[in-house]
Amino acid sequence: MNGMTGLRLDAPRSGWAIVADVVVVGSGVAGLTAALRCAASGRRTVIVTKARLDAGSTRWAQGGIAAALGEGDTPGQHLDDTLVAGAGLCDEEAVRTLVTEGPDAVRRLIGAGARFDTSAGTGEIALTREGGHHRRRIAHAGGDATGAEISRALVAAVREAGIETVENALVLDLLKDAGGHAAGVSLHVMGEGRHDGVGAVHAPAVVLATGGMGQVFSATTNPPVSTGDGVALALRAGAEVSDLEFVQFHPTVLYLGPDSEGQQPLVSEAVRGEGAYLVDAGGERFMAGQHELAELAPRDIVAKGIMRRMREQGADRMYLDARHFGARMWSERFPTILAACRAHGIDPVTEPVPVAPAAHYASGGVRTDLSGRTTVPGLYACGEVACTGVHGANRLASNSLLEGLVFAERIAAHIARTPARVPVPAEPGGPGATRTVPLPPAEARYAIQRTMTAGAGVLRSADSLARAARELAALAPGRAGAGPGKPAEPGVETWEAANLHLVAGVLVAAALRRTETRGCHWREDHPERDDETWRRHLVVALRPTAEGFDLVVRTTGSTAFPPVMDGGTP
Ligand code: SIN
Repeated sequence: MNGMTGLRLDAPRSGWAIVADVVVVGSGVAGLTAALRCAASGRRTVIVTKARLDAGSTRWAQGGIAAALGEGDTPGQHLDDTLVAGAGLCDEEAVRTLVTEGPDAVRRLIGAGARFDTSAGTGEIALTREGGHHRRRIAHAGGDATGAEISRALVAAVREAGIETVENALVLDLLKDAGGHAAGVSLHVMGEGRHDGVGAVHAPAVVLATGGMGQVFSATTNPPVSTGDGVALALRAGAEVSDLEFVQFHPTVLYLGPDSEGQQPLVSEAVRGEGAYLVDAGGERFMAGQHELAELAPRDIVAKGIMRRMREQGADRMYLDARHFGARMWSERFPTILAACRAHGIDPVTEPVPVAPAAHYASGGVRTDLSGRTTVPGLYACGEVACTGVHGANRLASNSLLEGLVFAERIAAHIARTPARVPVPAEPGGPGATRTVPLPPAEARYAIQRTMTAGAGVLRSADSLARAARELAALAPGRAGAGPGKPAEPGVETWEAANLHLVAGVLVAAALRRTETRGCHWREDHPERDDETWRRHLVVALRPTAEGFDLVVRTTGSTAFPPVMDGGTP
């Protein structure tokens, strides 16, 4: 489907414009890699990023980047672990691509300047373990600051390459030409600078690398900028999204109290990889006996184990005990986590760390093929915003940085071999796109987060999801019989609220439809995995109506995604 749905956010007309061959939206590992490669192939490339160039989700990644780099490890073993974690829903071809191209992609990242930790004895890259991996396979940097180091290296390379960047810019909508081909993006630059207010980047290739949507829940490891902007833009542009029901809740997020909201400090799975174990308030280990890998079972299993124990005991947290590491190992191997714990008055050297699950990673996103193409010609997606099929129903730990790297390179290769098109002036949503999505008030953000946490969190049911759907409908302004009244004024907070509202609605619709428990989608009322009915993906697109839009939900025939294009290349 490459429809011209003609939906756009309510926003002022563009007051300025940049012309390029490629616009990359986002500055995590995926966006920066795509931009570097496109620029190296001679395409005029512009990066648009919501905050500063180094402020995306990548810099928060602690554990590391998984790749078959160690002696005796093979892409085949990495493939097996990824498929098991994905709970029967991975697209095997996508996983094969990831694990076979991954090791060389990491070596190229090192060539670009990223410095990974090495073993004192051998000088080889030091590898750790995380949940679901049967081997030490995770390369890390700065102990537990892997994302920050990757970000540092790539930002330096982008500056060195002189790639034009537009910072503090919220992307609004896809521009489309008369043929429905991507033609750039509209965006709003926050604050004064060379560009200010609403403008446009006209470019015939648009790469979405906007990261995740963790802010759709009250408590998340994601930074405040992760408001699902890329998925919402793609939906309005007519693209298909998939697997949105599979939100990964990280099992061990520092517990800061029952009312703590927004971004919460992560306690990396690598802490368990190095030997920490989970205990309840009475000091009893509860993961041993639940899975052969105990605390290092795939992430969904550990999160469920923690939730079950919390429910049995009426507790709101469990504990991660790593006192046996001692002060030296804590400060050398996990300096970031140690500092975060101490900043909150907890000393992991002398006491167990209180933890609880929180929203962490969107396994689903904008549906792509192996070249990162979406169902809209000229629109590509990579990193967390994309759904390549690699993660299935539950992402294997530390596969996300690798996925961003590998598929960003594949996108750049595809763009390089696609005949260049001349950038043309175009409109948000395409010519004649007059239907604007009404904007909820800025405060709707918090109502959406509370609704989603209560109804579509770790544990879901038909009742909780139906309640969430009703509450979300009541937050939609300007819809018949619903909404708090007239639409809000355009602005960053109301655009973000509109994006959160849209992705929350799609997530709930998909989670309601999937009447089984699989991976990180846990249905209390359908506790079993149902392979016969549900070993397939749910794909969602928007269909404009006189009143706004409907969601069109369909299932794929198998775990493999159908081609994104009806024919030809974008
Ligand atoms: C972690 O360090 O536990 C997070 C790694 C990941 O999400 O892959």
